[in-house]
Amino acid sequence: MSRSTPARLVRPLEPIWQEVLDSVLRRRGAPPTTDVAKLTPRLVELSNAYNQGLAGDGARVKVPLEARIAFSFARDVPKGAGALRELVRAGVLKAPLDRTFRVVDIGAGLGAMTWGVVRALAHDAEASFRVEALLVDEDKDALAAAEAIACEATTRLALGASALTVRTRTERIMTGMKLPEADLVVLGQVFSELDVAMDPATRAAKHAALVSDLLDRVVAPDGALVVVEPALRERTRHLHAVRDLLVSKGTTIFAPCLHAQSCPVLETLSDWCHEDLAVDLPSWLAPLARAAGLRWQGLTFSHLVIRRDAQRLRDRIGDKNDATRVHLRVISDVIKTKGKAEIFACTSGGARVRMRRLDRDAVRVGDESVAFAASAAWGGLGRGDLVTVRGEGGDTNGVAQEAVVDERGRVSKQAYIDVWPFRN
Ligand SMILES: C[S@@+](CC[C@H](N)C(=O)[O-])C[C@H]1O[C@@H](n2cnc3c(N)ncnc32)[C@H](O)[C@@H]1O
Repeated sequence: MSRSTPARLVRPLEPIWQEVLDSVLRRRGAPPTTDVAKLTPRLVELSNAYNQGLAGDGARVKVPLEARIAFSFARDVPKGAGALRELVRAGVLKAPLDRTFRVVDIGAGLGAMTWGVVRALAHDAEASFRVEALLVDEDKDALAAAEAIACEATTRLALGASALTVRTRTERIMTGMKLPEADLVVLGQVFSELDVAMDPATRAAKHAALVSDLLDRVVAPDGALVVVEPALRERTRHLHAVRDLLVSKGTTIFAPCLHAQSCPVLETLSDWCHEDLAVDLPSWLAPLARAAGLRWQGLTFSHLVIRRDAQRLRDRIGDKNDATRVHLRVISDVIKTKGKAEIFACTSGGARVRMRRLDRDAVRVGDESVAFAASAAWGGLGRGDLVTVRGEGGDTNGVAQEAVVDERGRVSKQAYIDVWPFRN
């Protein structure tokens, strides 16, 4: 795979992908993505199956594969890249130049997560690299389509025959399944389909055990495991519960969490920590989404990233967390009301807090431009941003003595707001 120069690491699939998918659809005797009239009912069927939790084990309703090829694949590839971007941007996940990068994609379906991985790695790669992916799924038709997509994409995108090698294995997911060592194990939107009839606590324990097992036996010593789930409340809260069980047994989370406390979001029934990126569906797919009444704007998902060697994203933004320096993950959109802009955030101390910056703090006599910049940065924050609010003077010398965030969540007008670049 040679280095590409796209503007963004997480981006919609380019128009050439429409040719790839249409070719696969045509060879199956299915309508291409341009045949909106024929595909729309299949897409509505697919959407209903997923929304009602009918897909996967527990209910065994087969969702239309044509709709998955025509729509889900292009929607899901950027989720794979998005879930990985902090690992890549922090420089702790790179495609090696002297050997093949090994992916095990569990519940792989069409291999969308694997393609997300390839695109994320390609974005930051210094030279050509190779990826070998093992796609595991109980649905052999989906895996056959995954092979067809990989074959068509490799040819049409001119990636070179060896850039991505896909192998498939039809198998039911279970703890202890025999798998080769991998630099990256991905579980993409598959927890949602596993054990859906089980009581929530038992189910969370079972999925945490599966993750632990994969970490212990399959992930390479310097490798990582990534779970992606739809950003629906119950599915994401299930992922939070799995995360809590893993943490309680000593697993270190790389991202999104900055702490090793219980997930504070679970204490508020109406809340869940997820991503909402300004990455739309590709324009060639928007007509189909519109016709089926589905969203084409934005990219939402939840995720959990773990490194086998216990590295943390937290370590990349400094270990100091005191009154003069507060690290946080933004877990809401900015709420702008009269005179202030507020966010909910999860701090590196493990608290879910509401923070606000007053509009009038934008003007500071003597140093107007700095204060204005801080205010603009605050108002421009988005869900998922990684932020340090710090006192004037920055590091050890000259750190402001007062708290940068008071006990009522008001950000000091003296505070500097650093937004970390790992998500760009
Ligand atoms: C929603 S799709 C996700 C596909 C892909 N990972 C992605 O994120 O785009 C879930 C996949 O998990 C597979 N799956 C569900 N239950 C499974 C099980 N018990 N064993 C193996 N695969 C399973 C389904 O066949 C399906 O292909």
